[in-house]
Amino acid sequence: MRDTPTVHAHLTGVVVHGAGRGRGLGFPTANVAADPGSLVPPPAIYSGWVLRHSTGAVHRGTISIGSNPTFCDTADVHVEVYCHDMSDEFYGERVGLWFVARIRDTVKFASPDDLVRAARQDVLRSEVLLSSDRGRRVLTDALALYEKTVSA
Ligand SMILES: Cc1cc2nc3c(=O)[nH]c(=O)nc-3n(C[C@H](O)[C@H](O)[C@H](O)COP(=O)(O)O)c2cc1C
Repeated sequence: MRDTPTVHAHLTGVVVHGAGRGRGLGFPTANVAADPGSLVPPPAIYSGWVLRHSTGAVHRGTISIGSNPTFCDTADVHVEVYCHDMSDEFYGERVGLWFVARIRDTVKFASPDDLVRAARQDVLRSEVLLSSDRGRRVLTDALALYEKTVSA
């Protein structure tokens, strides 16, 4: 993941409704409409922090960027995050997604069950990455920028 010298890769946007299939899969995701001008990383699965701008709360996440090829949705690229430690629905809220590391390519799985198995592994990997030194540095950056924004 490429960083600027001072701030780790992140995007901001608003939580919007997705296809509504994630909860049935056991992986409810918040779909994020990235702000115009936000740098959206290339399609892949990533570990990252979710910063809720309304409260400053931070959650551990696994982020999917892609067109959900397993379900042949459309060519549109979706930005979605599964929060490991929170199951609230937070439609309409502004969030920041702070990318820690890329986990794997997006795959067109043969079945939803295969996707769910892979997603479980992604979350385990993501937990390790979030707890790493790099994960903590990204979190420090995210909170510092948030504090600066709210106190401005
Ligand atoms: C951890 C994780 C990994 C994912 N990996 C893939 C993938 O490799 N291929 C794919 O088609 N979709 C992948 N997805 C996206 C799911 O297809 C998507 O979350 C699901 O279809 C629900 O979409 P919805 O929120 O629009 O209902 C992944 C989602 C998560 C949370």
